[in-house]
Amino acid sequence: MRRERHRAIAQAIVPPPSLAKERMMTYVVNEKCIKCKYMDCVEVCPVDCFYEGENMLVIHPDECIDCGVCEPECPVDAIKPDTEPDLEQWLELNRQYSEIWPNITCKKEAPPDADAHKDEPGKFEKYFSPKPAEGDIDTASAAGAGEVASPAVDKRQNP
Ligand code: SF4
Ligand code: F3S
Repeated sequence: MRRERHRAIAQAIVPPPSLAKERMMTYVVNEKCIKCKYMDCVEVCPVDCFYEGENMLVIHPDECIDCGVCEPECPVDAIKPDTEPDLEQWLELNRQYSEIWPNITCKKEAPPDADAHKDEPGKFEKYFSPKPAEGDIDTASAAGAGEVASPAVDKRQNP
């Protein structure tokens, strides 16, 4: 399975704890995700560090291992390494909301109007919502007997 292959790759990438403490880089989800939320990214993340808001996802910067496998998976190019310019506000937003939104590890259906919002400018001002979505709760029933979805939500408690 594709996800297991990525996990195996990541195990080879994960730095030992001593080095991990020194790591500074992370990947960041930016405005392009808003109202698109295709979720191809969550299928490949080997450390399950995506978190789900009402109309976008974020990455927890302290959990991301900088493997980069999610970046080319996003159809709207919404995932960037934080070494790229002008991502400071998005890094902060990813950090802030990954602490309060639920974990998402299984791809769900994209919003029906996702394609209509693909290249739309100003999506943050128009549509950003601080509300959490349901995370993996939705996928539990869809997983069926053959596949076990990750337990809903929370590595952390909502406030
Ligand atoms: Fe997950 Fe992407 Fe970070 Fe890799 S770069 S750990 S796939 S969020
Ligand atoms: Fe968003 Fe792209 Fe993932 S649209 S949900 S970052 S695949």
